[in-house]
Amino acid sequence: MKRQRLHAALSDIDQQHLTRRRTTVDGFVEPGNRVVTAVDGRTLVDFSSNDYLGLAHHPAVAAAMSECALRYGAGSGASHLVTGHGIEHARLEEELAAFVGRERALLFSTGYMANLGVVTTLAGRGELVLLDRLSHASIIDGALLSGARFKRYTHADANAAERMLEESSEDVTVLATDGVFSMDGDIAPLSQLAKACKAHNAWLVVDDAHGIGILGDTGRGSVEQAHLTPEDVPALVGTLGKAFGSFGAFVAGSRDLIEFLIQKARPYIYTTALPQPVAAATRKALEIAQREPWRRERVLALTTRFRKAAREARIPLLDSNTPIQPIMLGSSQAALQAQQELLDEGFRVIAIRAPTVPRGSERLRVTFSAAHTEEQVDALVEKLSQLRARYQTLCETESE
Ligand SMILES: Cc1ncc(COP(=O)(O)O)c(C=O)c1O
Repeated sequence: MKRQRLHAALSDIDQQHLTRRRTTVDGFVEPGNRVVTAVDGRTLVDFSSNDYLGLAHHPAVAAAMSECALRYGAGSGASHLVTGHGIEHARLEEELAAFVGRERALLFSTGYMANLGVVTTLAGRGELVLLDRLSHASIIDGALLSGARFKRYTHADANAAERMLEESSEDVTVLATDGVFSMDGDIAPLSQLAKACKAHNAWLVVDDAHGIGILGDTGRGSVEQAHLTPEDVPALVGTLGKAFGSFGAFVAGSRDLIEFLIQKARPYIYTTALPQPVAAATRKALEIAQREPWRRERVLALTTRFRKAAREARIPLLDSNTPIQPIMLGSSQAALQAQQELLDEGFRVIAIRAPTVPRGSERLRVTFSAAHTEEQVDALVEKLSQLRARYQTLCETESE
């Protein structure tokens, strides 16, 4: 873009009600309570964070981080393959591999980079990648960067994916999907996708950013919930900045897959290693998440409570049983207005607009945390129910 166009481009964005604004968190009102936060001097209850298990502000997690910083320093100083790989990284990788039942795991600095890394490494020019239409941006960017051609199948439609696998004249190397879709909260049809990928000898890559730590009998995520084996899902991506309350991500899989990523994945190789204190905090969070299954049970119970009360209040819901509960508004303007009205009442619920979601499906993205109270959830439903009376689109949206 030419320099002169920049200002006009910003005006265009603004006219479409698509300007993104950051709000600055300037304190937490109750120490250790992530859900009550201070923004611009106001106290708000946060219903948009991904801190599902309430671990981001856990004193033991924060202590692990600060103790490690005093011992090993704040920064790792270099990439993993130069001198940045430390004992905390190595231990965390072993613990993550054991947690998800894979031979090895490899830490990445972010989930975005993990998805870029795995897709660009497994697919390349002359090959075909299949993606769910609502795949996370990082999976799409991975496909773009890989140089492979890519096609998107109808959201969560395993039959459509299967047809593409069968009918494609090119070799499908990778099929990548979110486990839990980040904006809709629904779960990918993993069993059918796994079967189809096996039959066509394609890698199934599951990005379980929003499932890991929450779903399945023991919190191993959407893959556990679908009773799938490492053989069924040979490449699993998990993020550490959501349920585990810290930062970073990992890819887990066979020894060979991880070794290949170490040799080839540019988003792994050409970047400074995650600080060791972050890895130390994640280790503590992982330990607490396993020791305290009540966190997982609680966030799911709060989700159920919300859905029951929302149904009674005739608030339309999507078909999601995860802590991600979108409230569809249908336009950027309506979503922003609803966000503002909730803010005025002390709720921090973020409007999600295009291009993060398709136009016409603008929404409030409500998320729950084990740190919420029942009263906070009930108060949100009460406020949403008042909004429902005024937002036509909210009433018209198809209920389940
Ligand atoms: C499905 C999904 N994958 C990957 C990411 C990226 O993870 P990270 O925030 O660690 O970069 C996110 C969200 O940020 C996500 O929602």
